[in-house]
Amino acid sequence: MIRPCGDSDLPRVCEIINDAASAYKGVIPDDCWHEPYMALHELRREAAAMTFYGLEESDGLAGIIGYQPLRGVTLVRHLYVHTARQRQGVGSALLRHVIALTETPRLLVGMWADAAWAIRFYERHRFTLLPDGDKLLRTYWAIPKRQREASLVMGREL
Ligand SMILES: CC(C)(COP(=O)(O)OP(=O)(O)OC[C@H]1O[C@@H](n2cnc3c(N)ncnc32)[C@H](O)[C@@H]1OP(=O)(O)O)[C@@H](O)C(=O)NCCC(=O)NCCS
Repeated sequence: MIRPCGDSDLPRVCEIINDAASAYKGVIPDDCWHEPYMALHELRREAAAMTFYGLEESDGLAGIIGYQPLRGVTLVRHLYVHTARQRQGVGSALLRHVIALTETPRLLVGMWADAAWAIRFYERHRFTLLPDGDKLLRTYWAIPKRQREASLVMGREL
């Protein structure tokens, strides 16, 4: 079952993010990696700006996704699946959920340029790499300059 996450879910959401983000260690630039990857207070700030949805299983949340409609575009933010449940369709189910909710003509996602598996994942969902990534990151994301330099944007028209 996919459901919206509330404040009481945030500690588990944070756990999933930090567990799944271990995939970035040694892959993204060293100066972009930090532990924990996301602190609970940062997540609370992010959660105030978007809706998190979680895929709930009998033993709790297995993966989460952030849905952020903005001016004319919607952003997919923070898609993370617990390592024990990766490559079993959880991420695809969450992404399909957000695609179905999206009311803007365009859905965008930003990611680390070095995360080749994430690029493949989104390509399988008909997202394409956008040439104006830096401009889009400046317009729609509030992320540090260094993260922007090491990121790219993929998009899908709906
Ligand atoms: C990327 C992620 C969200 C995908 O969710 P998932 O539940 O694992 O993905 P699904 O099972 O729905 O889809 C699997 C497909 O995604 C791609 N993929 C996902 N993880 C992969 C990996 N570690 N290596 C290679 N391909 C991968 C492949 O195309 C895979 O298809 P395949 O298993 O037939 O090769 C999840 O693996 C994850 O949390 N990864 C770490 C954090 C991350 O990269 N988040 C994305 C931020 S933009």
